[in-house]
Amino acid sequence: MTSAVLSTRELKVHFPVRGAFGRRTGSIKAVDGVSFDLEAGEVLGIVGESGCGKSTLGKTIMGIHQPTAGAIWFEGQRIDRASPAARRAVRSRLQYAYQDPGASLDPRWKIGPSLHEPLVIHGDLDRAARDERIKSILEAVGLPDTHLDLYPHEISGGQQRRVGLARILTLHPKVVILDEPTSGLDVSVQATVLALFRDLRARFELTYVLISHDLAVIRSMCSRVAVMYLGRIVETGPTAAIFDRPRHPYTRSLLAAIPKIGGARVTRDFWLQGEPPDAANLPSGCRFRTRCLKATDLCAREDPAPRAIAHISVACHFPD
Ligand SMILES: Nc1ncnc2c1ncn2[C@@H]1O[C@H](COP(=O)(O)OP(=O)(O)OP(=O)(O)O)[C@@H](O)[C@H]1O
Ligand SMILES: [Mg+2]
Repeated sequence: MTSAVLSTRELKVHFPVRGAFGRRTGSIKAVDGVSFDLEAGEVLGIVGESGCGKSTLGKTIMGIHQPTAGAIWFEGQRIDRASPAARRAVRSRLQYAYQDPGASLDPRWKIGPSLHEPLVIHGDLDRAARDERIKSILEAVGLPDTHLDLYPHEISGGQQRRVGLARILTLHPKVVILDEPTSGLDVSVQATVLALFRDLRARFELTYVLISHDLAVIRSMCSRVAVMYLGRIVETGPTAAIFDRPRHPYTRSLLAAIPKIGGARVTRDFWLQGEPPDAANLPSGCRFRTRCLKATDLCAREDPAPRAIAHISVACHFPD
């Protein structure tokens, strides 16, 4: 075992595809062999195009989806096969912040009861102690007490996100998986929300997995980054190393597609075209080869195993 607080090994999550009469005709390989180690205090970024399996990975770690294969460890304990009681015990220390914060809040409940709920389920605090804890968390996420008496639809998207975060933090977690924490927010609010994450991380000694398709967010927040393509991590390493010298053709394309100031895109090296292939019908060999200019016969035949180059691990037959 490693010193990691959270690890996965060859994690797979395949969803059935059903045809007529509910017969299983195939599977969507949403997560297809993901291994990583997360050290305490780190911020690990997970980046990749829409549909590459980022949310499925986060939800499976949280126990929302059952893995098809592979293993998940949290604080040295195997959690993918844990009993419901053992999982509940873990859940307060390992939290997942939903991609859509509105959806994680019950529209019929005011913010106050929504914040009490996790403490009632997981904690043994009395009402006064819960009020006290919630008050201090609200202050930490920058929301006034008066919001406790409002419904989710009465507050803004940025505030909903703060409430979602407050809900998680009441349980004093150790690791928080943040799924697209800035999507749907305008740029000025994004910056404040990111500053808040940094502040909370220091204050509560949190470790983050930050899921985002926004490379600028990843670059500003993460110590390490894992690039996902169709259910796999194709490249991973320290953020600075990856941004300085991406080795995988997919990462190079993603980086080349970052919008520049003024909206102009850098087109040099940008060869990524079209949509990724269907996750239910993956190409043979390297799954990126259908969009890769470097692809050869070898790429069609053999799935490249990850290999280490400098501080980076890259799954490509012809890395840069
Ligand atoms: N419950 C489910 N049942 C069947 N297929 C699913 C389910 N959840 C996700 N998928 C499929 O798994 C794949 C990965 O989806 P996922 O939501 O993890 O992608 P993502 O990387 O989070 O995308 P986005 O950036 O758009 O949020 C997609 O092809 C999706 O359609
Ligand atoms: Mg997602």
